[in-house]
Amino acid sequence: MARAESKISQSTIVDIDRENVWHHLVQHKQFDSTDPMIVVEGHGMRVRDSNGNEFLDATSGGVWTVNVGYGRKSIAKAVHDQLIKMCYFAGSTGSVPGALFAEALIAKMPGLSRVYYSNSGSEANEKAYKFVRQIAHNKYDGKKNKIVYRERDYHGTTITALSSGGQNERKEQYGPYTPGFVEIPHCCEYRCQYDDTTDYGVRAARELESVILREGPDTVGAVVLEPITAGGGAITPPEGYWTTIQEICKKYDILLHIDEVVCGMGRTGKWFGYQHYDIKPDIVTLAKGVASGYAAISCTVTTEDVFNQFKNDVSDSLGYFRDISTFGGCAAGPAAALENLRIIEDEHLLRNAAEMGDYLMDKLHGLYEKHECIGDVRGKGLFAGVELVKDRVSKEPAEETMLMKIVADCQAHGVLIGRTNRSITGYNNTITLSPALIVSRSEIDEIVVALDAALGSVGS
Ligand SMILES: Cc1ncc(COP(=O)(O)O)c(C=O)c1O
Repeated sequence: MARAESKISQSTIVDIDRENVWHHLVQHKQFDSTDPMIVVEGHGMRVRDSNGNEFLDATSGGVWTVNVGYGRKSIAKAVHDQLIKMCYFAGSTGSVPGALFAEALIAKMPGLSRVYYSNSGSEANEKAYKFVRQIAHNKYDGKKNKIVYRERDYHGTTITALSSGGQNERKEQYGPYTPGFVEIPHCCEYRCQYDDTTDYGVRAARELESVILREGPDTVGAVVLEPITAGGGAITPPEGYWTTIQEICKKYDILLHIDEVVCGMGRTGKWFGYQHYDIKPDIVTLAKGVASGYAAISCTVTTEDVFNQFKNDVSDSLGYFRDISTFGGCAAGPAAALENLRIIEDEHLLRNAAEMGDYLMDKLHGLYEKHECIGDVRGKGLFAGVELVKDRVSKEPAEETMLMKIVADCQAHGVLIGRTNRSITGYNNTITLSPALIVSRSEIDEIVVALDAALGSVGS
């Protein structure tokens, strides 16, 4: 029989975990000599572990997720009430929160008009890839099925999502991959691939055109890009990048799919990352912050034009989107998402993310002046990256072990920060900061003080 949580001590839970759970993205050998961390409680910006240690969380749950902070009773109540009333029915039918959240969401996304529900960012992206492939079959005689992705971007963990991933360390040993995915170079100006950075943004975007011409424009159906690369190094797009990408997509009749799994729902100070760059995507995918981790939900949002390509003669048994996601029908997801969205609006969290993001950026530039090991500071809103180097002139990346020590030092001083890891060999060298959108000035000070001290003791 399963043991009840109230009857077991905190040290026992560590042992039970060690014996039974296979953690994500962790080398378990380390637990021969250390304890796995068990997070037992959270409130606002802070979490507590099973040993009673309290941490200020500058990662929003480790992976940019808990945008509205921990312990939101109103979200728990919305989910509770919905589950009692109607917990689940397959997604071929509708639900009240599903309809209301879709309406509220697309009101924030002019030009887009349909929401397809599933469970995770990977799955939301897979749906988009299936749209592209089916459109290729129906409209282009099977051609135009290739999907272009960018070096350093990440779109998920399933085999096909990994096929569109630009991070070699995530992909190694899991192939063979799904065919039809083609890579373009990254757009990190600090790691400029050319002799100089003149017109870097436009030149980096033109790499898309070169790849389209090399592959043949009649074979390329879509390009999938993060608005700001997250786990691949917090890469903000250079000047001119997005407008050029949009022009190229229009010119060659290629769908623009923006992966907002990290940037969406206010993280960058606007509802969506793409809204900083005056572009009109055909498909947008969302997950993480949609319900801030209070329930599993992801969305693949499209234009009416994309949607209409699946609206056909009812007698055509293959003419519609023949896809299902069992838990995409869970009503808890959109119920949590509706309340999450209300909180972001009523508490003016976009404004807070923008203002606190600027404050954080100023502070990080201050650290740049002080610590030689900082090569570059990047980000937008509450999405920041600090790239560490061995030497500012050569830009040789800092060792990953140094970043591990910095993260551990901050943790020992009560602050959880993130770092890029298992992404690009030799370039797992960016510290990431992504506090919840409710973060205050004094909490940012606390984060920066911890990072400053860690850089001082480990970095120099
Ligand atoms: C940009 C981006 N897209 C997609 C995903 C995959 O989301 P999930 O882990 O929910 O499948 C992630 C996960 O970190 C991500 O960062």
